[in-house]
Amino acid sequence: MLDWNEPRSPSLPSPADTTGLGSIDRSGGRVSVDEKAMINCRADVNQLLPLKYKWAWEKYLAACNNHWMPTEVSMQADIALWKSRDGLTEDERRMVKRNLGFFAASESLVANNIVLAIYRHLTNPECRQYLLRQAFEEAVHTHTFQYIVESLGLDEGELFNMYREIPSITDKAAWALRHTQGIENPSFTTGTPEADQAFLRDLIAFYVVFEGMWFYTGFAQILALGRRNKMVGIAEQYQYILRDESIHLNFGIDVINQIRIENPHLWTAAFQEEVRQMLREAAELEAAYGRDTMPRGFLGLNAALCEQYMHFIANRRCAQLGLTFVFPEAENPFPWMSEAMDLKKEKNFFETRVIDYQSGGALAWD
Ligand SMILES: [Fe+2]
Ligand SMILES: [Fe+2]
Repeated sequence: MLDWNEPRSPSLPSPADTTGLGSIDRSGGRVSVDEKAMINCRADVNQLLPLKYKWAWEKYLAACNNHWMPTEVSMQADIALWKSRDGLTEDERRMVKRNLGFFAASESLVANNIVLAIYRHLTNPECRQYLLRQAFEEAVHTHTFQYIVESLGLDEGELFNMYREIPSITDKAAWALRHTQGIENPSFTTGTPEADQAFLRDLIAFYVVFEGMWFYTGFAQILALGRRNKMVGIAEQYQYILRDESIHLNFGIDVINQIRIENPHLWTAAFQEEVRQMLREAAELEAAYGRDTMPRGFLGLNAALCEQYMHFIANRRCAQLGLTFVFPEAENPFPWMSEAMDLKKEKNFFETRVIDYQSGGALAWD
């Protein structure tokens, strides 16, 4: 029989406590800042205040200042170019379609992972507040691909099935899904070193690899067109997505690093090597995607340069996670991407605040 008055230390987690869905603990006492933790902490409903992780709250505020909707971007020039017979080469069209197909599926995979896997196990309310905002942004990104497909009159079935029908896209989706499947299982709980490492693997697969590596080739492909005044509407939308994604990536890096700080026993030499192997595999999968989407080079892009770019990005992610590089030092073959994304925004939020974000339009009340 349940004893409603049984005293329980706030630091002793049970599965119900860590989700926040357990019965209200009348005798649990108020949560103090010191008791807050990233994982395996009592998550009793939502004790947002007092804030412990200001970096998470700052990212939530920055994200809210970035609000945009895809329908605010005109697609007229893109429609005219797409419909004109010689506006784009066949290679460019192939890349655009596969790129859209990759993103259309990926945004949903990322959203599912947040809602069905990460949210349940991240026991901190500041981080959960950011996750709720991120989930909405992923919905906006999915909306973007619906809007592009509809505007250009593309074959919906072709685009939205590429994750099943184009092997280089399927391979990436399947690789990431492997890491989410275990922790999405309702019987999975954190609290053992093995389970906590599985949770870290999922965070790495989605924040570091999916959003922090694979999306970057995709951005480079479309922004390369935009720089030549081609598909400027899509390029503008990708810049908005890139701005959002650079915060998603940095949030994920901060979450992983904070879990590391609080649980140093998880970050063993063997686990670090495993993470490095994950980044190596991710770069290989991306190289295959590069060859598939760009069998021939164009607009200063080709598969070999994209592979080099992935090596550069993978090393950068290693540095952010305190890992040794996985590839020999590689030069950034697309320095113009730095301008497109403004590297200031990629700074670690432990050290700095983003102050230059503003939403597209201000509300007028009269
Ligand atoms: Fe996204
Ligand atoms: Fe994202």
